Amino acid sequence: MALSPGRVHHPHTVFSAEKAGHLDTRLRRLLYRPDRLADRYVKPGYRVLDFGCGPGFFSREFAKRVGEGGRVFAVDLQEEMLSILRARMEAEGLISRITTHRCGPDTIALPDECRGTFDVAFAIFVVHEVPDPLKLFLEIFSLLKQGGMFFLSEPPFVVSGRDFEDELRCAEEAGFRVRDRRLFFVNRAAVLVKE
Ligand SMILES: C[S@@+](CC[C@H](N)C(=O)[O-])C[C@H]1O[C@@H](n2cnc3c(N)ncnc32)[C@H](O)[C@@H]1O
Repeated sequence: MALSPGRVHHPHTVFSAEKAGHLDTRLRRLLYRPDRLADRYVKPGYRVLDFGCGPGFFSREFAKRVGEGGRVFAVDLQEEMLSILRARMEAEGLISRITTHRCGPDTIALPDECRGTFDVAFAIFVVHEVPDPLKLFLEIFSLLKQGGMFFLSEPPFVVSGRDFEDELRCAEEAGFRVRDRRLFFVNRAAVLVKE
């Protein structure tokens, strides 16, 4: 899919579930502070979409913040990632707050009744692996409530500044407004809103 005139999106290889252990380490917790990210954007009772959740490094903190009245939808292409996530959340007593959903490579495909029900969505270090970002952003847009927020982050050693700007333009094409560009540790990040 062309992200901007003359440019074509070439998706990167999907991060292998065999390396899932690299995504849930103490070092990563120290660098990315998923607890602070959750504090900032997730409130009790929220419905949260964690797209490309992997083994649940971020989903875990979102689940702690939503409380018993909220829900985290942890969505990933790979069943192996979701099964690691379920085992970890079970062990940590958080599984009752989590729905895992295996999506297809080019569609989230949550049931229609999920449309317009999410308070916040996250896509952290995943969009560069997705074949059609515009289709993904349109789906996330339709899943969010009016006023819902979308936090997007990409690693700079994989996604150049220009490519990230292309992703943001694509998100705008899907209907989002870019509220804020920021750094997430050393990573490129933006906060988008469905107005
Ligand atoms: C680099 S990992 C990041 C995982 C997690 N967000 C984190 O930062 O800990 C990328 C994840 O996105 C998932 N993924 C890749 N392509 C996807 C797609 N088209 N739809 C859903 N998930 C996808 C991979 O299976 C992998 O779990």
